[in-house]
Amino acid sequence: MKVVLVNGSPKPNGCTYTGLSIIKEQLAKQGVDSEIFQVGAKPIIGCTACVKCRTLGKCVFDDDGVNRVAEAMATADGLVLGSPVHYAGASGALTSFADRLFYSMDKKNLRLKFGASIVSCRRGGATAAFDQLNKYFTISQMPLVPSNYWNQIHGHTPEEVMKDEEGLQTLRVLANNMAYLIKCAAQSNVPLPEEEPKITTNFIR
Ligand SMILES: Cc1cc2nc3c(=O)[nH]c(=O)nc-3n(C[C@H](O)[C@H](O)[C@H](O)COP(=O)(O)O)c2cc1C
Repeated sequence: MKVVLVNGSPKPNGCTYTGLSIIKEQLAKQGVDSEIFQVGAKPIIGCTACVKCRTLGKCVFDDDGVNRVAEAMATADGLVLGSPVHYAGASGALTSFADRLFYSMDKKNLRLKFGASIVSCRRGGATAAFDQLNKYFTISQMPLVPSNYWNQIHGHTPEEVMKDEEGLQTLRVLANNMAYLIKCAAQSNVPLPEEEPKITTNFIR
């Protein structure tokens, strides 16, 4: 059992990383492995809509971690996207990363695996960024894992984050719930539902 955690902050050891580390620690207590991928520290090119992924089976830009995370998802049971709040949204780096990851990767490695996002902010815009990130999961047939609050932590430094008792609890509960759901799915004999071929209509009738 494994969960992939993505840090979309430019700071490899900042507040978002601190939040992801709390999740990693709690997952480990529940016997679930995890790995944090740092993706926000270098500029990340956005999706150029070249659509080469449809023939390559992966993103044409191979050097910034998108394809590494896609590969990791082949054997993972869950995915957590972590981002600082930048202007009441996810970071530009994570937005570019997630656009390309979810568009280019093999959708069967996402379907009915568990997803969650966490956001870190100094003061405001957390739920807008949280909503933005959750949409990647719900369009990919990934059940969202709940906690006892929306998954946000507050602070400008890791030390401040560690004082956000409610935020830290939210992340521990999230990790416990993700571990529980992953274990339930692992023990289930219920086959995945038959998949319908995707219909894409562009609002044209
Ligand atoms: C470009 C930029 C925009 C930001 N916008 C917001 C914002 O809209 N709301 C907020 O509360 N904090 C904002 N912040 C502060 C960060 O979200 C906050 O310090 C966060 O916890 C940093 O996480 P990190 O250490 O993982 O990067 C912004 C920071 C930057 C660099």
